[in-house]
Amino acid sequence: MGVSDQLVAAARAARDHAAADFSGFKVGAALETHDGHVITGCNVENASYGLTICAERVAIFKALSEGHRQFTQIVVVADTESPTPPCGACRQIIWEFCGDIPVTLANLTTVATTLQMKDLLPLPFDKRLL
Ligand code: THU
Repeated sequence: MGVSDQLVAAARAARDHAAADFSGFKVGAALETHDGHVITGCNVENASYGLTICAERVAIFKALSEGHRQFTQIVVVADTESPTPPCGACRQIIWEFCGDIPVTLANLTTVATTLQMKDLLPLPFDKRLL
């Protein structure tokens, strides 16, 4: 099934909570669970810049900490004309906990595209190799 307006709206609303005082680059994410829950995240920055956590990872870690383990899709929203894809670290975390889910990229007005994780992270390192 495609992305719902509700999931995109949730990611846009989460973006409003971004703590992005250093970059000014606010991002929101909304993660859908297999049983229909929506868990959101925003980026959280720090004066020690390297401690910053992206919106996608906040959403995934929130979901995991609340007991969710199966995910069906994620939406990422930024206020950019070109869609903002997940960074490399987030791709690794999405792959680890969500597998080959669709990732929808949107801005404040438009849904740009939906990509599969296997295309965003070809040849992944994961537990099959351990
Ligand atoms: N950021 C995200 O939250 N998600 C992305 O997909 C790309 C980057 C954040 C991290 C940092 O707070 C800001 O955007 C600029 O890199």
